[in-house]
Amino acid sequence: MKIIGTGSALPEKVVTNEMLAGFLDTSDSWITSRTGIHTRHLLSTETLSELAITAAQSAIESSGLQPEEIDYLICSNVANSYVSPSMGSILLAPLGLCCPCFDLNGACAGLIYSLDIADAFIKTGKAKKILIVAAEEPSRFCNWHERETSVLFGDGASALVVTEGEGFKNFRLTGDTHTDVLYYKRSLEVTPYDRVEEKTMPLVMNGREVFKLAVRACIKDVDIILEKNGLTGEDIDLYLLHQANLRIIDSIREHLGQPKEKFPTNLQKYGNTSSASIGILIDELSRAGELKDGATLLLSAFGGGFVTGATILKWSTINYPEKKEE
Ligand code: COA
Repeated sequence: MKIIGTGSALPEKVVTNEMLAGFLDTSDSWITSRTGIHTRHLLSTETLSELAITAAQSAIESSGLQPEEIDYLICSNVANSYVSPSMGSILLAPLGLCCPCFDLNGACAGLIYSLDIADAFIKTGKAKKILIVAAEEPSRFCNWHERETSVLFGDGASALVVTEGEGFKNFRLTGDTHTDVLYYKRSLEVTPYDRVEEKTMPLVMNGREVFKLAVRACIKDVDIILEKNGLTGEDIDLYLLHQANLRIIDSIREHLGQPKEKFPTNLQKYGNTSSASIGILIDELSRAGELKDGATLLLSAFGGGFVTGATILKWSTINYPEKKEE
């Protein structure tokens, strides 16, 4: 499998750390020193599906395919305003797609989980041209009266078109039950048989535990996937890691003993956009010409569950259509 198209979209509203300090007991220096985040883009006037459509349209356009040629849509999404229908179903008609679709909740590792499934579909011949859309609105999970979680996240969408090719080598996915360290519960209707009322509980996170789990798990994933491919840290041109926290990325980099330049980041601008984050990074780097043809990339992500995913691929240049003047 290889990537032949990329796209991303972010909400217009940019929220700085200073703006948050205006209504939360926090400060720019606390947020930047603990996370590296300076700003995040938050949904205000747009909807998540509008962002997802924009990201998907530019991925399809850059792939050179017509929407009718896409034969599967996989949508990575933790939650949106609908429990049903799926986000994938919502996107089909506006994108001009006529294919099966489903949503996958792999938390922040959802893009890598989606890529793994797409790879299996392509290998078995179930589908040939797959659109993967990762669209997330974690800002809508947070309690905005609490400083612990709300400062960390941003909203966004990314999209990749994949097809047969010599890009991806292999995947390593893991899962483990740690539901207590990071969760978001929705309200449940009362029934005649179950009268326990479940109210929505905004995102609860044990930051220190998540930090430790993330560093430990990502280091293990990276070591194992390098070994599986007979590679060392030196052989990787760029590490595209889940954009959650600069200190988590630094811990992984220090373990590998690799230079900072190999770890591009954009979390400073966007915060943690959950499963959209690695796709946004790929799209931005690719469009800026910073992903060289033949470059070896390592992707690694972790998320609530606790789940992780990592993969290695050889990059093929994508020729983006010229931007039309407005
Ligand atoms: N502003 C100011 N103070 C804050 C704060 C904020 N936004 N959020 C928490 N604090 C306070 C806490 O109340 C606590 O105060 P106390 O020591 O008086 O009890 C203190 O800061 C916690 O500090 P510390 O434990 O040193 O923070 P940390 O170095 O662990 O950093 C996180 C906190 C959340 C940034 C860090 O643990 C983290 O990034 N964890 C991973 C989170 C993540 O990636 N989640 C997404 C997974 S996909």
